[in-house]
Amino acid sequence: MTETIAQRTAAGEPAEGPSLYERLGGIFGIAAVMDVLTDRLFDNVSANQNPYVAKMHERNGRPGFKFMVTAWSVEETGGPRCYPGRDMHHAHVDMEMSEHDYDVVALEIAATLSYCGVGVREQKEYMAIVERIRREIIDAPANERAKVL
Ligand code: HEM
Repeated sequence: MTETIAQRTAAGEPAEGPSLYERLGGIFGIAAVMDVLTDRLFDNVSANQNPYVAKMHERNGRPGFKFMVTAWSVEETGGPRCYPGRDMHHAHVDMEMSEHDYDVVALEIAATLSYCGVGVREQKEYMAIVERIRREIIDAPANERAKVL
């Protein structure tokens, strides 16, 4: 079984003590935050200025997106394996993501973690995960994209 990002420290050693997953309150704690976050992302006018993003939101709807983002977060923070979706590169490759698009979403994530009262240490660790996948999501060669519009 491979390790998730949160199970290793910056030095590459296995992390000690309760996992980020446990400190975020497990499935119920994470689901509560992702419930708020995914609504804010769906309603975020700046994020929806990318027409591919607006189209995907319209096409797939909130419940599935909530489930996917919650399951992904559970796994990446050191919880049980439960994410059935695509890797981050393939999940976003068709949407012509820019640095600005990414910044908009990262800002919304940071604001929501704070809004929901997540601890400062846990906010920093979750945002470190978000930053580590930035290149995976943005650097998509045009020839890999399917037409979604
Ligand atoms: C910041 C880190 C990000 C994480 C952790 C993340 C996570 C996810 C996950 C787990 C999925 C579901 C994948 C699947 O369907 O197989 C997804 C889909 C999606 N993501 Fe992201 N994402 C991130 C960044 C972004 C950015 C920057 C945008 C655009 C502004 C974006 C827009 C979308 C859209 C539109 C979908 C499809 C949603 C739908 O099905 O309605 N994501 N993302």
